[in-house]
Parts: sequence; C-alpha cells; structure tokens
Amino acid sequence: MKIAIIGSTGQLGTDLMKALRNEHEAIGLTHQDIEVTDYKSCLLLKKHHPDIIINTAAFHKTDQCEEEPIKTFSVNAIGARNIAAISKEIEATTVFISTDYVFDGLKNEPYTEEDTPNPINTYGISKLAGEHYTKQNPKHYIIRLASLFGVAGASGKGGNFVETMITKAKKNEPIAVVDDMWMSPTYTKDAAATIKKIVQSKLPFGTYHVTNQGYCTWFQFAKEIFKLLGLNPALTPIKTEQLKMKSKRPKFSALESIKLPKYGIQIREWKQALHDYLIEKGHIHELTPRE
Ligand SMILES: NC(=O)c1ccc[n+]([C@@H]2O[C@H](COP(=O)([O-])OP(=O)(O)OC[C@H]3O[C@@H](n4cnc5c(N)ncnc54)[C@H](OP(=O)(O)O)[C@@H]3O)[C@@H](O)[C@H]2O)c1
Repeated sequence: MKIAIIGSTGQLGTDLMKALRNEHEAIGLTHQDIEVTDYKSCLLLKKHHPDIIINTAAFHKTDQCEEEPIKTFSVNAIGARNIAAISKEIEATTVFISTDYVFDGLKNEPYTEEDTPNPINTYGISKLAGEHYTKQNPKHYIIRLASLFGVAGASGKGGNFVETMITKAKKNEPIAVVDDMWMSPTYTKDAAATIKKIVQSKLPFGTYHVTNQGYCTWFQFAKEIFKLLGLNPALTPIKTEQLKMKSKRPKFSALESIKLPKYGIQIREWKQALHDYLIEKGHIHELTPRE
C-alpha cells in the first residue's frame, strides 16, 4: 500500500516510518513539506494519491494551548478537517492520531472505546473536534494514544518525560513528580507496530485505543525509569495542584482497548516497553535485568 505519514520526523512519525517502509511505500511528509492548517498545502496529498493518510501533526503543548486556542484549533481541528476532506476526495483512508485527553479523568478506571469523551482543556477539546472532522470521511481510523515516549522525542514538546527524568538525575537535581495523575505510558514503537496491524489487517473503521498495557502515576513511572537505570536521585511525590499549571488535566486518563483483543492484537505491558526503550536509546544494555 502507499501510505503518507504527516509529521514523519516527529516522535510517533519516526517510528511509523520505520514500521511501514519495509513492506509498504511509505511517503514521509515533514512540516516543511505540508502545513495541515492550509488546505492548499494539503493538496500535495492528491499528487501522491496514497491509499492511507496518517496524520500525526498536532499542537500539543497542553498549557500553551490554553493561551493559543486559535493555533490549537487550526492545527488539531481544522488540520484534521483538511486531511479528512482530501482523503475522502481521493478515496483514501484517514488515520487521525488522537489522545487520552479527550476524557475528563473522572472514571477512575481505564477508558475504553465505548466511553463518552468529555474533554476538560483546550487541547482535548480541539482533538475531539479533530475526531469529529475525521469522521466526515467514512473510511477512517481514530487512534487514541497516551503519554508517549519514543527514540525521536516529541518535537512539539522538546523531548519526552523519560529523557527529562534522566537529564535531571544526571545533573543531580531534586526531582518532584505528581503522584495523583494516572496514565498509560506508551512506547511509540509499539504504537506504530499496532497502527500498522490495524491498517494492514483492514480492521473495521472506527476508534481504537492504542496504549501499552497497564497504568501508573507519573511518579511511579519516574521510579521505574530510575530503577531500570540503577539511579537513585532525590525523587519526591507531589500533588498536581502544587505545579500551578495553566491547563486542567484529567486525573485518571489511562486507556484500554476492548476492541483490539477481539482481533488478536495485544500490546505488551508498559514496563517491558520502557525497558526496551532504554536499550534502544542506549541508556542500558541488552542484558540488564528488568526486575
Ligand atoms: N506526545 C504525547 O505524549 C501524546 C499523547 C497522546 C496523544 N498524542 C498525539 O500523538 C501525535 C504524535 O505525537 P508526537 O509526540 O509524535 O508529536 P511530535 O513529535 O510533536 O510530532 C508531530 C509532528 O507533526 C509536525 N507538525 C506539527 N504541526 C504541524 C502542522 N501544522 N502541519 C504539518 N505538520 C505539523 C511536527 O513538525 P515540527 O516539529 O517540525 O513542527 C512533527 O513532525 C499527536 O497527534 C498528538 O496529539 C501525543
């Protein structure tokens, strides 16, 4: 298949390119190649005429989204609209990458594809709008991911949580991490492999939750990172309100899929994924024991 990947040098895009290019004609489109907020720029897709268009582009600095709602909606909602409209015209399948932040976090157990979104911040509202626009193309997959870590690091966020923790520990900085916000840490390599399976197996169109199995607080995630690295920095659990963030965040945004197991697709547990990430990134060696 011919598959266009928008945001191909981003954290997820990099792993999508790696996952897809051996078996498919993967067309990587960087931000320089295409501007999703500009319909005319998106017409480039017509020239390539792919079977599938995967849109990973986003403005996802959650706090900044509160200050820049127009930019946030331009990229996350209007961008999705442009891609869905062009996909529909050329009869391509649209894959829109969405987020756990479409949920309000009040459920206190993992959200499935059957739960009703109710975003509580501008980023989440804009991504939900993007989901709705994506549905204008009947041939669509909405893939909700969460708390990504991948070797490329999020270009829109300047890295990822794992690397931030490692940098702070190496500088011997005291580290305070929230212990009352729960999520599903997800390795972009596993997310990319799963997205590949979904499109390749031609699963029914619709919404899928794609995260590593299990969940934890950000503090527990940090603890596991340091345990695997054999580091022992001054790590303190704190409450979310101590951070005085501009944007509200869901307290419990872990995701699980009740659809993928029905098609025999299981994603490994987040601790195993983290271990492999640390190897891939060269932080630990292959033989470092996990437990
Ligand atoms: N990171 C997370 O923890 C997380 C969690 C849940 C869901 N998600 C979703 O997952 C997707 C991928 O995240 P990621 O971490 O891979 O992000 P990323 O590293 O920031 O990648 C996004 C890519 O899109 C490009 N891009 C940004 N704005 C664009 C625009 N207006 N037009 C065209 N391209 C544009 C970026 O290019 P430049 O950097 O050159 O601008 C970058 O290559 C996003 O849709 C995000 O909402 C992320």
